[in-house]
Amino acid sequence: MANSISSTGTDSFVGTAQSRVDGPAKVTGQAKYAGEFTAIDLAHGYVVSGGIAKGRITAIDTAAAEAVPGVLKVFTHENRPRTAWLDYNYQDAVAPPGSPFRALYDDRILYSGQPVALVVAEDFGTARYAASLVKVAYDAEEPLTDVERQRAFGYEPPKKRAGIKPPPAPWGDADGAFAAAPIQLRSDYTLAVEHHNPMEPHASTVVWDGDGAITVYDKIQGVSNSQGYIAGVFGMDKDKVRVLNPYLGGGFGLGLRPQYQLFLAVMAARELERSVRVVLTRDQMFTFGYRPDVRQTISLGADEGGKLQSIKHDALSGTSRFEDYQEVVVNWSAILYGGCENVSLDYKLTQIDTYTPADMRAPGAVTGVFALEIAMDELAYATGQDPIAVRLKNYTDRDPTEDKPFGSKALRSCYEQGAERFGWSERNPEPRSMRDGKELVGWGMATGVWEALMQKSAAQATLTSDGKLVVGNSTGDIGTGTYTILTQIAADALGLPMEDVTTKLGDTQLAEAPVAGGSWTAASSGTAVMKACRKIAADVFAMARAMDDSPLANVDLERVVFTGGRIEVAGDPSRSVSLVDAMKAGGVDKVEATESAGPDAGHMKEFASYTHSAVFAEVKIDEELGQVRLTRIVSAIAAGKIINLKTARSQILGGVVMGIGSALEEESMLDHTVGRFMNHNFGEYHVPVNADIHDIDVIFVEEDDKANPMGVKGLGEIGIVGTAAAIANAVFHATGKRIRDLPITIDKII
Ligand code: MOS
Repeated sequence: MANSISSTGTDSFVGTAQSRVDGPAKVTGQAKYAGEFTAIDLAHGYVVSGGIAKGRITAIDTAAAEAVPGVLKVFTHENRPRTAWLDYNYQDAVAPPGSPFRALYDDRILYSGQPVALVVAEDFGTARYAASLVKVAYDAEEPLTDVERQRAFGYEPPKKRAGIKPPPAPWGDADGAFAAAPIQLRSDYTLAVEHHNPMEPHASTVVWDGDGAITVYDKIQGVSNSQGYIAGVFGMDKDKVRVLNPYLGGGFGLGLRPQYQLFLAVMAARELERSVRVVLTRDQMFTFGYRPDVRQTISLGADEGGKLQSIKHDALSGTSRFEDYQEVVVNWSAILYGGCENVSLDYKLTQIDTYTPADMRAPGAVTGVFALEIAMDELAYATGQDPIAVRLKNYTDRDPTEDKPFGSKALRSCYEQGAERFGWSERNPEPRSMRDGKELVGWGMATGVWEALMQKSAAQATLTSDGKLVVGNSTGDIGTGTYTILTQIAADALGLPMEDVTTKLGDTQLAEAPVAGGSWTAASSGTAVMKACRKIAADVFAMARAMDDSPLANVDLERVVFTGGRIEVAGDPSRSVSLVDAMKAGGVDKVEATESAGPDAGHMKEFASYTHSAVFAEVKIDEELGQVRLTRIVSAIAAGKIINLKTARSQILGGVVMGIGSALEEESMLDHTVGRFMNHNFGEYHVPVNADIHDIDVIFVEEDDKANPMGVKGLGEIGIVGTAAAIANAVFHATGKRIRDLPITIDKII
C-alpha cells in the first residue's frame, strides 16, 4: 500500500494490518512483567494496609511478625530509614500540584488503605503471613469522603496543574440567553468512582547490584519517571538507578505516576542491601488513584430548531487533602459546540479524605462528554430532531478554547459512515417503539473527542553491516502496540523487511522519552524514530554515492527510494546499491543516529488538534428484569493517519469495552461512614467479561492532518469517549427513561 509517510522509504508496512511483533513473547510467557523478574538474593515485601481513613497511628506492634522465622525486617514510620524526600521530581505532565503521598512518613493517616508497614521476608508466603500479625492501634477521626456533603464547605480555586487547560473565560451572557431561550434544558449528571484495574497489578522488583546501584523493574508507563522519582526521594545519582519496564499488562493512567510499592521496595533494598520485590494485591489496587465521581450540571438553551443559544457546564470534582488533582471536564462543551454565542464553563475542586484521583483513560473527557452528549440527546428529543441533525446544526470548525481552527476534523464523516454502517436511518425515534420479542430495543448515538498531543521524545537507531536495524527509546509499550508500529515506521524508512528491525523500549539506558500516555506515543516516538532512521538513510546514502563507479553518482537523496535493503534511483531499479555494500565501502560496521521530535514538529502552533468519533449503540432490555444487553456498537473514528489497522482497531475495541464498563457496570462504592471503598475485588467491582461483549464494529474515516510529519493523532483514548453516552441514549430510546447517573444498573431502569 502506498502512502506518504516517508519521502525516502517505500511505505510498505505503515498503513497496513500487522500482528504484534511482541505477540509470540506474550502468549508463550517469555515476556516478563515487573513482578516476574528475580535475583538470587531476592526478598519479598508485603504491604500492611491501614484500617481507618483519617486519624493517627497511636501504636504499632510488629513483635509477633518479626518473630516469624524467615522475616527479615518490618518497616514502619517509626523505624523507616531517613530519605532525601526531595521534591518528588515527577514529570510535569503527570503530577497534580501539591505534596505527593509519602509512604511510612509519619503517624498520620490520610486515606483508607494507606500502607502502614512493609514486612520483608525470605519468601512471599512468610511475608504475607507475618503481615497479618502486625497490630496497629489508631486514634480515629471522622472522615469526610462525600463530595456532595463537602460542597457545603466550599472550595479553593485549584493550583494550576501543568498540561491541564483551565476552563476558558465565559463569553456572551449564558444565564441571560438561557432565560430567553424557547427551549431550556437543565439537568445534573453523576458518574461513579472507577478504579483502573489493569490486569498486571502494581509491582516493583529492585535488584541490588552492589556499590549502591540498583536495577529496577517497575510497573510504570514511563521508566524515566520512576528513575527521577527514586533519584529525588533517595538522593541517588541517576546513573546508579536503571529502570526497565519491557512489558506492561495495561496502564490506563494509574501507571503514569510511580506508586508506593516502588518507594517501599527501593527503601527495603537499600536498607537490607539485597534485592526486594513488592507486588500489590488486587485488593490494594483499590487503595490509590481512581476516576473521580465528578458532579456536573449542564444547562442548554436553544431555539426550536435545536440551535444552541446558551451552554452552561459546571463541574465539581473531589480531590485528596494533599494534591489538587485536575482534569479537563467542561472544556469539551466548547470544543464540540463552541460556535454558540453564550458559553459559561466552570470546574471546581473540593477536598475529601481519600487518596488523590488519578488520570484514567481519557481523563475528564469520559466524564464531561458523557454528560454533554446525553444533554444533546435530550435537546434532540426536546426539539423533535434527529440526534445527528442537532449535532450538525451546532458543528464548529474552530476550537474557541485555543482560538484556533482545527487542523483537521472529519467528524462529519464519522457521523455519516457510522450511521450508514449502523443502519441509523431505520430508527424510529419514538422511545419504546422498537422491540425484539420480549426485549425493548434502543438505538442511541453520541460524539467522542480527545486531544491529539505530542511530547518531546528522543529515539535512537542503529543499522549494522549485516543489514539489521535496531531502534527504540525509553517509553513503554503499555499494551497499545508501540513495539509494532515503531518497527513498521523504521522498516519503511530504510526499506527493510520488518523481520530485520528490532524495537527496544522501556529502559532508562535508551534515548529518553516521556511516559506512554495521553495518546501521544505514536506521534511522539513515531516521529523521533522516523527522524533517526532518516538520518541513517542520509548517512548510508552518502557512502553509497561515494563508492567507486557508484550507480547513484550525481543523484540526490530526494531522488532515491529505500526498498528491499537497497537504495535505488526512483523509477530506475537498475541503478541501486545495497545498504550492506554501501556500509562496507564506507568502511563502517554500523551507523547510528539519535534524533528527537516535539510538538513543534508539525502545525500544532497554528491549529487545534483533536481526534473525534461517532459512537452508535444498540441495547436490548428485558422489560420485566431491567437487564441490559449491549448487542451492537459501531465506533467511527477520525484520528489522522492509521499506522497499523490491526493494533489500531484493538485500541478502539479496548476503549469501547472500558466505556461499556463505565456505562453499565463499574462502580467503586465508598462507605462514607468509614471512608472506604467497600467492593475492592472483582467479585463485587464488575468489569465487562466476554459474555457482556457482542458486536463491536470499528471504522477509521479518512483524515489528512499535519499536526506532525506522519499525520498521526493517537488512538489510546478516543475509543472510550462518548461510548457511555451512546449507551445511555440507547437505554432512553428503549425505555423512555432518562438516566443521568452511571453506571446504568437494573435498579435505575426498573
Ligand atoms: Mo493515559 S490516562 O494518559 O495513561
